Amino acid sequence: MGLVGAGFVGPHHVDAVRRLGFVDIIAVAGSDDESGRRKAEALGARRGYGSYQALIDDPDVQVVHNATPNQLHFAVTSAALTKGKHVVSDKPLAMTAAESKQLVEQARHAGVVTAVTFNYRGNPLIQQARHAIARGEIGTPHFLHGYYLQDWLIKDTDYSWRLEPEKGGASSALGDIGSHWCDLAQHITGLRITQVLGDITTVVSPRKRPRGTREAFEVDAGTGPVDLVEIEVEDLASVLVRFDNGAKGSFSVGQVCAGHKNDLVLEVCGSRASMRWQQERQNELWTGHRDAANEILQKDPTLIDAEVRGYAHLPGGHQEAWADAFCNVMRDIYGFIAAGSPPDAARPPAMATFEDGYRANCIVEAVLESARRGGVWTNVSD
Ligand SMILES: NC(=O)c1ccc[n+]([C@@H]2O[C@H](COP(=O)([O-])OP(=O)(O)OC[C@H]3O[C@@H](n4cnc5c(N)ncnc54)[C@H](O)[C@@H]3O)[C@@H](O)[C@H]2O)c1
Repeated sequence: MGLVGAGFVGPHHVDAVRRLGFVDIIAVAGSDDESGRRKAEALGARRGYGSYQALIDDPDVQVVHNATPNQLHFAVTSAALTKGKHVVSDKPLAMTAAESKQLVEQARHAGVVTAVTFNYRGNPLIQQARHAIARGEIGTPHFLHGYYLQDWLIKDTDYSWRLEPEKGGASSALGDIGSHWCDLAQHITGLRITQVLGDITTVVSPRKRPRGTREAFEVDAGTGPVDLVEIEVEDLASVLVRFDNGAKGSFSVGQVCAGHKNDLVLEVCGSRASMRWQQERQNELWTGHRDAANEILQKDPTLIDAEVRGYAHLPGGHQEAWADAFCNVMRDIYGFIAAGSPPDAARPPAMATFEDGYRANCIVEAVLESARRGGVWTNVSD
């Protein structure tokens, strides 16, 4: 593998792939020679490059991981596909649905394996819930609701490239974390979001932008020089959703909600029972009943369905976490590549496709359009 972009999430790509045991970590590309060399050394990669093209041109790199800021996603992924490399892109696939669609087409012609890291799919209890819902355990889903809240942008001294449309895209909170919620809601139920009605807000504006660069979740020391900038993108949003089976739903996203660190909650209410999963308590799956006591399934390989047992790697009581789920995603992706599967073969469940990435862009754009028009129902076009 070769990694482009080793900030917050890039190193987790390397860790996860390294744990598989059968993939060489060949190279890391940074934004210049010095950062490429330094980051390659820190991550134990053999080579460091100062440009993504040099990494892509390395004949030893067969799989390119794209963990750059959003504005580079299209260029890096497109260059890797042009060179016939497999690509693992972090979300969003690209800054706009139009660019993502182009990448879907380019990947189809390149005939390589491609994937997007919607990493919450890799959690064992997400796969358990998906399996249980598919075999009818909760009946027909009629209401999906939840939220994805964080607090790392609550202060006006908090800053990220995600807040600059030319670097992050037209949306911030929705694109960054709402896309995960939507992918998970569709993945767990097999339903598709067809219409949305959005209300979006920018709570914190202006913000103090540091003159130097800062990686995600890096806390401001409060000492360096800053520029005061108006923020155009949303840091809070609430969305009503309609699904293709007639089910309704709602979710909120925000990065200005104190105490919520990485708080993704998804509940599916069906005609017989409800099921809820919370990222911050990810070893528990709640099932709600009308005529019996509610239950909490604690993650335990012996208590989950045989078909999804491969996603749980520790016995009951041994907590599995964010990085383990990320590793499960890589296991699905690299298992598929190593098996020599044709790109259009049936994929393991935790391996989101470029089409899934494109769909996430379409949903976010539909929410922005809905909000722009004053909060009207808007079709998700794809
Ligand atoms: N799946 C997830 O849960 C998850 C979590 C975090 C971030 N992400 C996604 O990953 C991407 C990166 O986010 P992050 O939080 O790691 O951001 P970050 O700012 O912490 O890291 C980005 C890194 O890319 C480097 N970079 C910039 N230009 C470059 C270039 N031309 N060539 C090589 N490297 C370059 C930066 O120096 C930095 O180290 C984003 O698209 C984000 O949406 C996904």
